[in-house]
Amino acid sequence: MSVPPRLSVIGTGYLGATHAVCMVELGYEVIGLDVDKAKIDRLIAGEVPFFEPELPELLKKHIDGGRLRFTTSYAEAAEFADVHFVCVGTPQRAGELAADMTYVEAAFASLAPHLTRKVLVVGKSTVPAGTAVRMEEVLHDLAPCPDVELAWNPEFLREGFAVQDTLRPDRLVMGVHSEWAEQQLRATFEPVIAAGTPVVVTDFATAELVKVAANSFLATKISFINAMAEVCETTGADVTKLADAIGYDARIGRRFLNAGLGFGGGCLPKDIRAFIARAGELGVDQAVSFLHEVDSINLRRRARTVDIGLDLLDGSYRGARVAALGAAFKPNSDDVRESPALDVASAIARREGTVVVYDPEAVENARRSHPELTYVASLEDALDQADIVFLLTEWDEFKNMHPGVVGKLVAQRNIVDGRNVLDPLRWRAAGWQYRALGRP
Ligand code: UGA
Repeated sequence: MSVPPRLSVIGTGYLGATHAVCMVELGYEVIGLDVDKAKIDRLIAGEVPFFEPELPELLKKHIDGGRLRFTTSYAEAAEFADVHFVCVGTPQRAGELAADMTYVEAAFASLAPHLTRKVLVVGKSTVPAGTAVRMEEVLHDLAPCPDVELAWNPEFLREGFAVQDTLRPDRLVMGVHSEWAEQQLRATFEPVIAAGTPVVVTDFATAELVKVAANSFLATKISFINAMAEVCETTGADVTKLADAIGYDARIGRRFLNAGLGFGGGCLPKDIRAFIARAGELGVDQAVSFLHEVDSINLRRRARTVDIGLDLLDGSYRGARVAALGAAFKPNSDDVRESPALDVASAIARREGTVVVYDPEAVENARRSHPELTYVASLEDALDQADIVFLLTEWDEFKNMHPGVVGKLVAQRNIVDGRNVLDPLRWRAAGWQYRALGRP
């Protein structure tokens, strides 16, 4: 590297905290900024405010190494960095499909007045098409230096694999308006590019769309297999075998064809909804109207899971003790945003089942968002005297359960495998009534 640019990362949530730490790992000096002082204090103390494998070790290493620091001051970040990454969240607006752009707008408006020399500001947040051009205007209007430039560089990391996805991404997408911006971004990702990562250089609109298109495709793939699961349920077919068989076709591919409770989390659900909303504003609603169906197929799987349990309990949850295994939206995460698992658990609680929830990492977050449910600290406590067991998030701890051993803890051997991860033959052989989604 010639003179490596110094970096700031604005917004230290999932994306920002991971990006900041990983860029130091890649050799850069980084300052992380957040307006939430409590979050910054935890990071300074070497504590990651969420569960993400590998990140705590790297954070500690780099706080001690002195090339990573954190602040709440935009002036300090502007003074320090040559390249600023904007990594703030764009959650779904309450009561609407569209994304809430408040944090992105605030980040640009707060940073710009401090930009007194030529720097590159890089948008990483997932945003509706047209945002980058607006933010470029904000920079031109508010930055004292007239030469500040913007680039758009969407992020594709998955929770649970955030560190690896950041250090070794599938691809880098660079939406730029000038040769200088491209060169500056290339210098910022030099080790990643040197490792052979493909780079797609494009305009702002394409860079913004790549992200929502990718997440829409993934959501569609999951809903496709879940739609097939619905058909399998009426024809007696097995969706897991179907997925294996079509997945061998390299054009289709087996990944993201796991049928079950469907997708949740802070990204896929809100991104397809924001895309629908933005397409409506742009007058191209028809082009993405299928995403409404993707969303409804996904939500129907949760209702179906509740109904399968009802079948096993002869039509009523009233008074039944229900073990809900999993609260996180997927394993290796403590994120419960739009969690299908918690949705199912609370739907059963509303039907007067006594629901006891256990998750290896997400109980604290789950308790905050669903205080009405009962939480326990171990798998054994959840299973104790259960009339029915729901496997809702495919943590290894649940996948590895021994049907004979856990059978001794429950009151009745009823299990609904919401993620299609258990072996039906084995569970049935141990005397369980085993039911799953899209599987006989
Ligand atoms: C997703 C994308 O995969 C990332 O590429 C993207 O960067 C990220 O959103 C984002 O926009 O920030 P993530 O939300 O971490 O990442 O989770 P995924 O691994 O994509 O899983 C999403 C949901 O789909 C989970 O609830 C998971 O259980 C479900 N899923 C996944 C299935 O139901 N079936 C599958 O076959 C795969």
